[in-house]
Amino acid sequence: MGVLKRYGKYLPISEKTPAVNLEEGSTPLVRLDRIGGELGIELWAKLEGCNPSGSFKDRGMVLAFAKALEDGARAFVCASTGNTSASAAAYAAHVGAPCYVLLPSGKVALGKLAQALIYGARVIAVEGNFDRALEMAREASELKKIAIVNSVNPYRIISQKSGAWEICEALGQAPDLHVIPVGNAGNISAYWAGYRDFNVWGRVSALPKMIGIQAEGAAPLATGKPCPNPETVATAIRIGNPVGAKTAIEAVSQSDGFFETVTDREILDAQKMLASRAGIFAEPASCTTLAGLVKLAAANTAKKLPQGAKTVIILTGNGLKDPDTAISQVEPPVKIGGSLEELLEVMA
Ligand code: F0G
Repeated sequence: MGVLKRYGKYLPISEKTPAVNLEEGSTPLVRLDRIGGELGIELWAKLEGCNPSGSFKDRGMVLAFAKALEDGARAFVCASTGNTSASAAAYAAHVGAPCYVLLPSGKVALGKLAQALIYGARVIAVEGNFDRALEMAREASELKKIAIVNSVNPYRIISQKSGAWEICEALGQAPDLHVIPVGNAGNISAYWAGYRDFNVWGRVSALPKMIGIQAEGAAPLATGKPCPNPETVATAIRIGNPVGAKTAIEAVSQSDGFFETVTDREILDAQKMLASRAGIFAEPASCTTLAGLVKLAAANTAKKLPQGAKTVIILTGNGLKDPDTAISQVEPPVKIGGSLEELLEVMA
């Protein structure tokens, strides 16, 4: 029913707030028994790729757009590694407003670029990485007085909390472990705030440990060191200077969790594992979560990954957004002519 409708009572909206709705949220939470069994945990995956623009960004975008429109905004801007721009472009098209999106040139997955273009956003490819594009978007939004819909916009984080609320309602409790990719560090902050809300409101009695996963080549929070030249196959989280660093570090330390890194190889192996053993195709950034769990299980760190732990991984974006990376990892189709004999031979 859309995040503003489902959780309106928990959100800062009134009758004056436009009822923006692309039926975002209410995404599936799927139990993964085969993979969970191998890892010795009770594993659940939240399929955020089932949102209307194919990523979790829609949860936050709906409120950011509604509040900006309420305040009289006429145009929107964001910087993005791809998903924020796809989502912003979708909502801008839906409400009939212009939208400018700044992308790091040549570093955005094909599906995401296609989305921003077909939704009709003005797409600007910046020579530089995401961090630079975000600085430019922030300055332009002030100078041109247009609404910025990156996670520096507080409404984004407020309605992204809905992911945590949904998990608590589906499980009847918070999980033991919450495992999430960390890029600009907004989503981990939002989930922690969402779990804490439900705890304060008496809806759940315990809180999860927050485990933030970063790609080894873009891991400023996991290493505690700045990363001026981030690089990873998981382009969605190719970020060296996360805006949400402070709240993400707080989420991890307050929850007694931790950050972990995974290599590009581990990410791609996890992507294949998830697709071929659970039937779920998630984009590389999302697969950092499973890669992190596989790494922890292999290291046999029972303290970090206790047997039977109720564990939720957030699969933040749909695998179809980045077909090039997936195809580069698998065997090509078997080619045959038009004869049944050839087909039967292949099937033998
Ligand atoms: N997963 C995906 C698929 C993402 O697109 C992002 C961020 C993240 C994880 C990390 O979330 O930034 O809240 O820590 N994508 C942003 C974008 C940066 O521009 O689409 P975060």
